[in-house]
Amino acid sequence: MLKGKVAVIYGAGGAIGSAVARAFAREGATLFLTGRSLASVEVVAKEIVSAGGSAEAAEVDALDEQAVDKHLQSMIDSVGRVDISFNAVGIPDAELLGVPLVELDVERFALPIATYATSYFLTARLAARRMIVNRSGVIMRVTALHSRTGIPLVGGYGPAMAAMEALTRDLSAELAPLGIRVVGLRPQAMPETPTIKEAFEPRAKASGMSWEQWQEFLASKTHARRLMTLDELANMAVFLASDKASGMTGTIVNLTMGSLDD
Ligand SMILES: NC(=O)c1ccc[n+]([C@@H]2O[C@H](COP(=O)([O-])OP(=O)(O)OC[C@H]3O[C@@H](n4cnc5c(N)ncnc54)[C@H](OP(=O)(O)O)[C@@H]3O)[C@@H](O)[C@H]2O)c1
Repeated sequence: MLKGKVAVIYGAGGAIGSAVARAFAREGATLFLTGRSLASVEVVAKEIVSAGGSAEAAEVDALDEQAVDKHLQSMIDSVGRVDISFNAVGIPDAELLGVPLVELDVERFALPIATYATSYFLTARLAARRMIVNRSGVIMRVTALHSRTGIPLVGGYGPAMAAMEALTRDLSAELAPLGIRVVGLRPQAMPETPTIKEAFEPRAKASGMSWEQWQEFLASKTHARRLMTLDELANMAVFLASDKASGMTGTIVNLTMGSLDD
């Protein structure tokens, strides 16, 4: 589904970034994988190459405008184009969660909002400048259920996710006339990712639940009575990145399996 497409992934060493990288590679995309630390990204790139795919790893801080720009230019110099930009950057939840809003200090509240919105803005804007030339491209970002529902003890994380969903719509309003689609994916928790365990820890005491009870509680709120898998998320990312989704832009695909029904 992605044969001939060139994709850049930010946060490619993480759980979602690496799952999406593997799925994009299986569908024939040429991959440029980036992350704040090279080691985890190199592992993913090597795995893809040994499975017969095409992937290069690079250390790129997705909050550093010059680094993102330089890396995109190196892609253009090497393969001449960028078709897909996927931002899967995530910052450690332990720094953000577990404190009631009335006790939260302003720096800790603002950190996720500034980090997530800035990284998405930078990577999207700089990729769009390259995509405009071809009047073609797809810009993608992962958000979360928190963007649309009230959840206690998550600090600035909900506003951060909501900001990225608003930015998805605004980017699309400006870029879709130029041939560039902008779409988000809004999963709920995937317990196989370390992120979800980390997100649970600061709230464990307040919730009075064990890790197993927490997963059951989250699953019980879905229509399917189960949480989504990373593979399911990655498959949806493939479809959205492909030309099969040419009719979709300026929206966030709700992958919460009914926890948030629209
Ligand atoms: N996991 C889930 O079930 C789930 C559900 C809903 C939403 N989400 C959201 O999806 C996003 C990704 O989640 P995940 O589970 O894949 O997280 P993850 O495994 O922690 O991966 C995040 C990746 O982002 C990288 N990163 C952090 N800051 C960066 C920067 N400035 N520049 C470049 N890379 C940077 C991290 O690299 P380092 O390790 O080197 O810092 C890490 O590889 C997060 O925003 C998360 O909140 C996750």
